[in-house]
Amino acid sequence: MAKMWQGRFSKDLDEKVNDFNSSISFDSRMYKEDISGSIIHSVMLGKKGIISEEDSRLIGKELSAIYDEIESGKLAFDPTAEDIHMFIESVLTERLGEVGKRLHTARSRNDQVALDLRMYLRGQIDVIVGLIKSLIKTLVEKAEENLETVMPGYTHLQRAQPITFAHHLMAYVEMFKRDMVRMFNCFSLMNECPLGSGALATTTYPIDREFTAKHLGFDNPTYNSLDGVSDRDYAIELASAISICMMHLSRLSEEIVLWSSWEFKFIELDDAYATGSSIMPQKKNPDICELIRGKTGRVQGNLTTLLTMMKGLPLAYNKDMQEDKEAIFDSVDTVKLCLSTIKPMLDTMTVNKENMKKAGEKGFINATDCADYLVKKGLAFRDAYKIVGTLVGICVEKDTTLDKLDIAEYKKICDVFEEDVYAAIDLNTCVKGRNVTGGPAPEAVKKHIDLIKNTVLKEEKQ
Ligand code: ARG
Repeated sequence: MAKMWQGRFSKDLDEKVNDFNSSISFDSRMYKEDISGSIIHSVMLGKKGIISEEDSRLIGKELSAIYDEIESGKLAFDPTAEDIHMFIESVLTERLGEVGKRLHTARSRNDQVALDLRMYLRGQIDVIVGLIKSLIKTLVEKAEENLETVMPGYTHLQRAQPITFAHHLMAYVEMFKRDMVRMFNCFSLMNECPLGSGALATTTYPIDREFTAKHLGFDNPTYNSLDGVSDRDYAIELASAISICMMHLSRLSEEIVLWSSWEFKFIELDDAYATGSSIMPQKKNPDICELIRGKTGRVQGNLTTLLTMMKGLPLAYNKDMQEDKEAIFDSVDTVKLCLSTIKPMLDTMTVNKENMKKAGEKGFINATDCADYLVKKGLAFRDAYKIVGTLVGICVEKDTTLDKLDIAEYKKICDVFEEDVYAAIDLNTCVKGRNVTGGPAPEAVKKHIDLIKNTVLKEEKQ
């Protein structure tokens, strides 16, 4: 494809250099944004009398036709084109001749690419938010089914205190809720229109930047043209929000790996969401979770790529910045893929309530409650702590648990203990007793679920 910037050069670009320089293989996905940006730009040029109204109309009409042809597969991208911007403009010029050549008046590819990327990422944020929301819905549904499913809560991966499976799942709901907010914040910061920044110093034509910003759905134009074309903080911020979301997905995946192991057997994945081994017939592997965990590393790498690529660049545009797209596109694609794969996997997994309960019964997760029992009868917590520590030692020696230890043994260590200790350290009592905001008591978790349903999951009225 002939170069639009040919004039100054006496030779064609070396073929290998052309390939090296070209970004069409990855930026072609922004064709829709490139075309909408160009249509609004040409409308504005016509409205301001910078080009004729008739030329503006012809350009708009042909750009729409080009869009339809790309969508229907009639028009293929030329792999030798320099980028998507050059490709669209040259197809337009081939078709409209002189008129097509007027489109690039008062514009540069530098503001064009900054515009396209912002618009593309805005659209992707909407998709990601939708996927996070539907993952939250699944987690909330599973939580509702497990309000009373007692399991051990862990610290240092050691059984610590009794919680419920609902409480555990709702922890992730909070993480994903914040991920959604981070996406919204990112959207609003990137929602300024760089079009009209030109190459770096705007233009002498009487353009209307407010008009283009408004019609392309932005809050306002960018307020400094150098900044408009030369920062990519919005892509970095999105890569960061995606990295955090992937880190949350990765932690959830790691727990599912653990929970589906023979050591835990808290959950079982549906056959459609687990894989077998080529040699060991008994295996059922949680590959999806492991891949999500693995892909998190890649997404974090993309964030580092972007930060490192930008950190030494002088203002304004530098070609280094073309490297932004593969990194941010990969992060966007990866998080979408992971979110949409983990959701049905969670939907279809079965929860082994019995095993969770059994795990709760061992490991002295009611020891804190046992100490609290003494505190409620007047002892100081530190003394109570010590007494229960001694009792745990006795249980370990006798290979038993606090709820099975004879009352006589209790009394030997501290005569404040009565028969009612058994009720006080019953796991269900322990969980129900933690009925404070944010706690694991079924009533508290139910309130949390209702809050999420009435906020995050609430369908907006049309
Ligand atoms: N393909 C380029 C990019 O992605 C578009 C901008 C090119 N601008 C330039 N002055 N060479 O960054």
